[in-house]
Amino acid sequence: MLKIRRFRPADAEECSRIEREIQRRLFSRIYPKKVTAHFLRGSSPRRMKKKFLRRITFVAEQDGNIRGFLVMIAKKRVAKISSLFVRFDQRRTGIGRKLMDFAVSFLRKNFPKVRKVWLRSSLLQPTITFYKAMGFNKIARKTISFPGKIRLVFILMEKNLP
Ligand SMILES: CC(C)(COP(=O)(O)OP(=O)(O)OC[C@H]1O[C@@H](n2cnc3c(N)ncnc32)[C@H](O)[C@@H]1OP(=O)(O)O)[C@@H](O)C(=O)NCCC(=O)NCCS
Repeated sequence: MLKIRRFRPADAEECSRIEREIQRRLFSRIYPKKVTAHFLRGSSPRRMKKKFLRRITFVAEQDGNIRGFLVMIAKKRVAKISSLFVRFDQRRTGIGRKLMDFAVSFLRKNFPKVRKVWLRSSLLQPTITFYKAMGFNKIARKTISFPGKIRLVFILMEKNLP
């Protein structure tokens, strides 16, 4: 059975493998090589461990293997999802939805003042479709600068918590 739990330092290697596989197989199709290289550097186990421990990070685990993870930051009234990845061969099996539901329940219980969840989506259509299915609405397009003077467009999305 799939279990959602807090991230532990020993999970960093597996989370890094999941994120890097998605970057190579999906993000490299829409981002220039320099940007993919930049993302791959940022997703080393060491860097991910540091970031994930500072933030609120959940992993989805089944049969001792990590199948996906979600990372967020909760402030006073707003929470931001900074990463959500499901293992490439496990997509569309309900893991993303379970991670998202778990994160929202966690916020309701532990951060009752949070009224909004915010995120920045890539332009990958399945990702936008997923977030819409999770109740997020597009609020703006945002251009972000990357090394090599590359500017890319992302979609800002938000969801109100009842
Ligand atoms: C986007 C992502 C997190 C979704 O997680 P997932 O586990 O594959 O999604 P789920 O199986 O929980 O899907 C929930 C619902 O979202 C929608 N959805 C998800 N993937 C979809 C797709 N490829 N096409 C159309 N709708 C999709 C469907 O409505 C689905 O419900 P259904 O299967 O009952 O029809 C995952 O596919 C992923 O890691 N993608 C690559 C990385 C990424 O883009 N991360 C987010 C930004 S960093």
